[in-house]
Amino acid sequence: MRPKKRVAILISGRGSNMAALIEAASRPAFPGEVALVLSNRPDAGGLALAVASGIATAIISHKDFSTREGFEASVEAVLRSHAIDLVCLAGFMRVLTPQFVERWRGSMINIHPSLLPSFRGVHTHERALEAGVRVHGCTVHFVEPELDAGPIIAQACVPVRPADTAETLAARVLAEENTLYPRALQMVLDGSVRLENGRAVFRNDDD
Ligand code: GRF
Repeated sequence: MRPKKRVAILISGRGSNMAALIEAASRPAFPGEVALVLSNRPDAGGLALAVASGIATAIISHKDFSTREGFEASVEAVLRSHAIDLVCLAGFMRVLTPQFVERWRGSMINIHPSLLPSFRGVHTHERALEAGVRVHGCTVHFVEPELDAGPIIAQACVPVRPADTAETLAARVLAEENTLYPRALQMVLDGSVRLENGRAVFRNDDD
């Protein structure tokens, strides 16, 4: 059996996607293991959950660095010291420099709470309601230097209901995120999808 790929999850908050990834990766047949959870915020709720799951954690507060590059050099060193193969951004609220993104190109994925390319950036649920869209959802994509713009690996959609508030819509989308992200991670780890010439290429590209 091939050795499992080593995955790091980068978080800034509550960590429901992180928890879903940890849960999926705990299955013996999953092609990767969560080797590290790294947070840029010492108070991120997800950290306690990671510790409870017996996963190595690291806190690198961006506030301890005067430059983005300094912060990222420290993140990079920790990723390397844990021999990380693949990085999952899961509610990680720091913009990464093109240099960092370039180093992890094809090996760094993100989940975004909208059907990209609609609603990049923040407050996606409010903006979806404002735009009056009838479907909304979430996207897992390879990370590119441009924010929320990388090639799409997988998407899931939900209906927008007339009585929705940003909160009810966010909850409906989050439930889909928590299912979609583990599936997308599995696809990247088992080679069902890879980044090639700036595009997501699927093994069965008749899909
Ligand atoms: C999710 O909605 C994710 O799509 C976005 O930030 C939120 C993080 O939630 N990038 P959680 O910390 O995974 O619960």
